[in-house]
Amino acid sequence: MLFKKSSQLMKGLLMALLVLPMLLSALTASRQSAQAADNTDPVVSRIQKKGKLTVGLSADYAPYEFHQQVNGHDKIVGFDVSLAKAVADELGVKLVVQDMGFDALLGALKTGKVDMIASGMTATPEREEQVAFSNVYLRSPQVMIVNKDKASQYQSEGLSAFSGKKIGAQTQTTQEEVAHTVPGASVVALQKYPNLISQLTQGLIQGVVAEKTIAQAYTEQNKKLAMIEPHYQTDATGAAAVALPKDAPVLKEKTNAVIDRVTKNGDFAAWQKKANKQMFAGQHQSYLQKYGQYFLQGTGITLALAVVGVLIGTSLGTVVALLKLSSHFLLKAIGNIYVEYVRGTPLLVQAFMVFFGTQALGLHFSAFVAGSLAMGLNSAAYVAEIIRSGIDSVDQGQMEAARSLGFKHSQSMRLVVLPQAVRTILPALGNEFVSVIKEGSVISVIGVGELMYETGVVQGASFEPFMPLFITSMIYFILTFTISRLLGFAERRMNR
Ligand code: ARG
Repeated sequence: MLFKKSSQLMKGLLMALLVLPMLLSALTASRQSAQAADNTDPVVSRIQKKGKLTVGLSADYAPYEFHQQVNGHDKIVGFDVSLAKAVADELGVKLVVQDMGFDALLGALKTGKVDMIASGMTATPEREEQVAFSNVYLRSPQVMIVNKDKASQYQSEGLSAFSGKKIGAQTQTTQEEVAHTVPGASVVALQKYPNLISQLTQGLIQGVVAEKTIAQAYTEQNKKLAMIEPHYQTDATGAAAVALPKDAPVLKEKTNAVIDRVTKNGDFAAWQKKANKQMFAGQHQSYLQKYGQYFLQGTGITLALAVVGVLIGTSLGTVVALLKLSSHFLLKAIGNIYVEYVRGTPLLVQAFMVFFGTQALGLHFSAFVAGSLAMGLNSAAYVAEIIRSGIDSVDQGQMEAARSLGFKHSQSMRLVVLPQAVRTILPALGNEFVSVIKEGSVISVIGVGELMYETGVVQGASFEPFMPLFITSMIYFILTFTISRLLGFAERRMNR
């Protein structure tokens, strides 16, 4: 009976879920045509209501967009940013820039996380099925970045030189497609440019397919690199355009008007010049002056993440431990399953699950909140084990003695067993804090600006992959070493 009812309910719900989007799109479509007349569309009115235009980009693409220290603060600059700013001005709103992986941009635009993409994106037919594109504002042919000592050989041999070799390209870009047309070569696709360049300089791959504008930037920064111009089989000239939501005819019109204006009146050329200059700005500054800020900020967030993670972890972990110790079969099972499941799956997977899962549930957590929640949920399983084994380590006789003195179970637990368990639990909890600090590095994948994330930023900004990693490893080491020393000290005092 109950089953029947609930299955009918499910059917009803499903129907509603299917019909609702249709109704909504019909509604917005009719609104669209009405609004186009008075010079607005759903997206423009949303932007104007918020008072800000959110632009998505992947800031690893100098001189289009890249991180730069401006007066000691990190800023995303480049001519894509200048263009976006001009569109924001046109709409009379503030500009907000959102940096993410290039392969995450289209999804962000389609789900309304960003209002437009200005990221040197080429309008391909597949992309045009999902989003709309403005007119093209910059063309750049595809070339290949190689190690300088091989450049003349590769240039004369042409594409056949790469047969049987590995070449790299950024994930989900037109460069990745071009790379696949190189006969006999196998393609290594990575999310961020600095990682491609580091594989190249280490000789793990032999070339990186890139647009000429980008290749020039890298070869000018890194004297060990050179650019060759192979004759690719496809005409894949990069043609940068702004990507827009499909239901935004007015936004598109306005964007095109801006592009038209700035390419004609010389503004765009000036932005390009400025971006090229900025790439080389600050060369007289020391490494620390240029990048110290990133590491500092990252360390702060890493510590904050660990503290919040451990707070959530210990509170939830205590509950889980009590579940595990419960004499009730179901509660015990829940506790056991939780611990086994969490300890048996990678934190990386859990972080993504919490990030996207909470979104699917309609909870729009920031990356930091989702990240610390993931850390907390993960840590809880380990803390639960620590607490359980702490309690188990107290001799059974203690509980029996307390009970025979007339204490209730809960009283004996609280007054006799727990105080003794704490002596084994506390040091182990300290170690857990140390591992939470290290494990937090995984959380960078969902875009939390912790130490590992900032390392990536510095790698991109400095065009150099190894040094930032080394510095980061030292910071982690100093953090964890100091904390475990302090804990050891506290432990010795407690034993006395
Ligand atoms: N033009 C290429 C494309 O559309 C690459 C763009 C990469 N942009 C970036 N910001 N990393 O696929």
